[in-house]
Amino acid sequence: MRVLVVGSGGREHALAWRLASSPTLTELHAAPGNPGIAMLATCHPVAAEDGDGLRELARSLAADLVVVGPEAPLVAGVADTLRHAGIPVFGPSASAARIEGSKRFAKEVMAAAGVPTARLLDEPRAPCVLKADGLAAGKGVVVCRTDAELEDALGEAGGHDRTMLVEELLDGPELSLLALCDGREAISLAPARDYKRAHDGDEGPNTGGMGSFAPVAFDGDEADLVETCIRPVLAELADRGTPFVGTLFAGLMLAAAGPRVLEYNCRFGDPETQSVLPLVEGDLLEALAAAATGSLAGTSLDRRDGAAVTVVLAAGSYPAAGNRGTPIEGIEQAEASGALVFHAGTALRDGQLVTNGGRLLGVTATGATLAAARERAYAASDLIRIDGCRRRGDIALEAET
Ligand code: AMP
Ligand code: GLY
Repeated sequence: MRVLVVGSGGREHALAWRLASSPTLTELHAAPGNPGIAMLATCHPVAAEDGDGLRELARSLAADLVVVGPEAPLVAGVADTLRHAGIPVFGPSASAARIEGSKRFAKEVMAAAGVPTARLLDEPRAPCVLKADGLAAGKGVVVCRTDAELEDALGEAGGHDRTMLVEELLDGPELSLLALCDGREAISLAPARDYKRAHDGDEGPNTGGMGSFAPVAFDGDEADLVETCIRPVLAELADRGTPFVGTLFAGLMLAAAGPRVLEYNCRFGDPETQSVLPLVEGDLLEALAAAATGSLAGTSLDRRDGAAVTVVLAAGSYPAAGNRGTPIEGIEQAEASGALVFHAGTALRDGQLVTNGGRLLGVTATGATLAAARERAYAASDLIRIDGCRRRGDIALEAET
């Protein structure tokens, strides 16, 4: 199969890496890709949001499958453009991607489907959580434990407007459940946890994610989570004539009263994917192709024993912009130690790999235990030298307790 991966982050590098080992793969392409992906695939200078450009590229490559990584192109309808041209796509239509694109739509679908979620409140009153309705690149949610925090948040948002959602504040460990879906059927991947805050101890601003690990051990059953949080949404969207094909990602809180869905994403998580895919033992390409063609029933994906931990190396200024052009050294040594190094914000300048802002690299290691994977991921990331780069020191520290 000829496959085109759309996107340019660590998630897409992890996807390209996993697909590259599939026995059914004949050609791997990416648009636009990044220097890490370029070692596995042919990269084409077409932007992830450019639906027409992607359709023409997929046609010229005679692609058998397009896998769309990021949310923005999905919400903008790139998968529809491809599908209308008869090209099989792993990724939801714009109508189904609204599950991520609009928090209000997600709440409405959850209510109709009977999915447990945080209660909506009529008025903002601490403790509560404020959520912007649309896509906000991880910055649309403010947790307000006190009146002062609520006042600050409302001040920043320019007051309480009706597009904002207010919901009850829940407490408990979080879990990311990613499921490959063909519109009706779902296959879940290893439950993962990501670390959204910039600094150790969950301090500092929200980011795209500073690290992750999988699997997450929890007091419950993964299959039950699929039954309560994934399948009812698939049935509801299918009944509405907008079946969900792609990765449905439930952001869950394991509250004392039971699991609650905080949000849905319409794509693979980043960095979760960098921890989850190294634990996939079966043929990921076969599963994605089956999902794209509505034939996931009967497909299964074996899972490796053990655990995977991903430590993100970010620019010192991240999540603020800045730091481009700093040389990156030591990736080969890190890989020689057995780790996987996924590129996110990197670029090639005169043959030298340099930083390109934001999250730079994800360093993933596997191990028989979470503690072993953690130790190997940090040891490998110690071998990478980038002036001024930063990482969290407490990724998967749960392993030690
Ligand atoms: P979301 O984008 O909806 O996943 O929210 C981002 C983060 O905000 C989540 O990972 C949680 O840490 C937090 N959050 C969202 N909703 C709630 C809630 N109802 N109660 C407590 N924390 C929440
Ligand atoms: N790591 C969370 C996300 O991909 O949205």
